[in-house]
Amino acid sequence: MSAQYDLVIRGGTVVTAADQFTADIGVVDGVITALAAKLPGGAEEIDATGLMVLPGGIDAHVHLDQPTSDGTKMADDFESGTRSAAAGGNTTVLPFVMQQKGSSLRACVEEYHRKAEGNCYTDVSFHMVVSDPSPQVLGQELPALVRDGYTSFKVFMTYDDLVLNDAELLSVFDVARREKALVMVHAEGNDAIKYMTTRLETEGKTAPYYHAEAHAQIAEREATHRAISHAQLTDVPVVIVHVSGRDPMEQIQWARKRGMKVFAETCPQYIALTKDDLKGLNMDFEGAKYVCSPPPRDSDSQAAIWEGLRDGTFDIFASDHCPFYFDAPQDTGKDNARARTSFKWVPNGIPGVETRMPILFSEGVSNGRISIERFVALTSSNPAKLYGLYPQKGTIAVGSDADFTIWDANKKVTIRQDILHHGSDYTPYEGMQVTGWPVRTILRGETIMHEGKITGDRTRGAHLKRDFSGMGYP
Ligand code: URP
Ligand code: ZN
Ligand code: ZN
Repeated sequence: MSAQYDLVIRGGTVVTAADQFTADIGVVDGVITALAAKLPGGAEEIDATGLMVLPGGIDAHVHLDQPTSDGTKMADDFESGTRSAAAGGNTTVLPFVMQQKGSSLRACVEEYHRKAEGNCYTDVSFHMVVSDPSPQVLGQELPALVRDGYTSFKVFMTYDDLVLNDAELLSVFDVARREKALVMVHAEGNDAIKYMTTRLETEGKTAPYYHAEAHAQIAEREATHRAISHAQLTDVPVVIVHVSGRDPMEQIQWARKRGMKVFAETCPQYIALTKDDLKGLNMDFEGAKYVCSPPPRDSDSQAAIWEGLRDGTFDIFASDHCPFYFDAPQDTGKDNARARTSFKWVPNGIPGVETRMPILFSEGVSNGRISIERFVALTSSNPAKLYGLYPQKGTIAVGSDADFTIWDANKKVTIRQDILHHGSDYTPYEGMQVTGWPVRTILRGETIMHEGKITGDRTRGAHLKRDFSGMGYP
């Protein structure tokens, strides 16, 4: 007699964003079909006694294989980036299609699909970046792409090659409102950063550390408020991404008190690093390993971020995985000749897709700062809900995809570059000790990582089109 289930996971503590309970999970054709005690046998059986079974992690903010404009090279393509994601307990990642100025957004989306096709261990779903809101893009391409399932796009308020002015921001927000798409905002004021950069350079302050001073929290606060005001004017929901500290958080809270739909994301670097890390060893170039924007702040900011993770100011905890090599041939890494002349040329971004969940679990759940249900909400359920993947993804329920991370809450691990699976030649979290680690990742019923070994097939990950039928447009 053939087994009733393809897979049964037995005896684990099943955790969702709402509750936890002990149950067996039955899976057929990659979908959860039963949640009950003492299920009959499966063709494959996994004993999860003593372990937690969580929905697969959804990292809603990663950068993979993006073109760069300065000759540097991203350290992860889809193959290595999704491999690293799987090793870190993720089953879905949302990377960005980067529109370069003068390019058709549709052509960029198609090119990104060619890169991803056959190269993904996890499922993926693309956000877009709108850097050139031409009449053609706003009038035709963007609306058509939203209808085709690319329902979110990011805009930048800084970086000379990406920044949109206020008129452009308003026109992009207006398309989002009309098409029911979600706008993600990189909120840092470009002119304020450029003013600070010039001032610091004039004073001879060019080491990587000064990136943290140039990207002042004031510039982040101002841009966050401006983005919120534009969202209010155009009556559209927005997500403020990679929020680094108390000042921008207060703007988000201000908007929420007035009933606005402003969502917020924060990242591991804002709880596990500070701007002092950018000092490297005695203000040397090692500090470039921690350069990202917004930069990590100070211990007061970390405390504020924890308050926000607890009290619901933050909806999403994403990695903003943006991996560069530190040391790479032909000046393609962070350590390049131009970057040595000024912090302003150091590529912005750090790797973190594999360490995102362990860092939040250890610092948050193991250290008693947040509940395990809140951990699941921040790392899986909320990203699925906000970006239109729920309830196919982001929960453990009959009818949902059988995506799990099986978690050993007691496993102690020291994060080191040589245990990670990303393409970067370093981790900013080298030497950090964590309690709690993913021991198995299951994508649609198939184990893709077990005890640190990738067992999946890189052709299995699929691209997911999105819509808001599950939870409604926010
Ligand atoms: O420094 C960062 N965050 N780099 C990645 C690009 C972005 O702004 O998200
Ligand atoms: Zn950004
Ligand atoms: Zn990013």
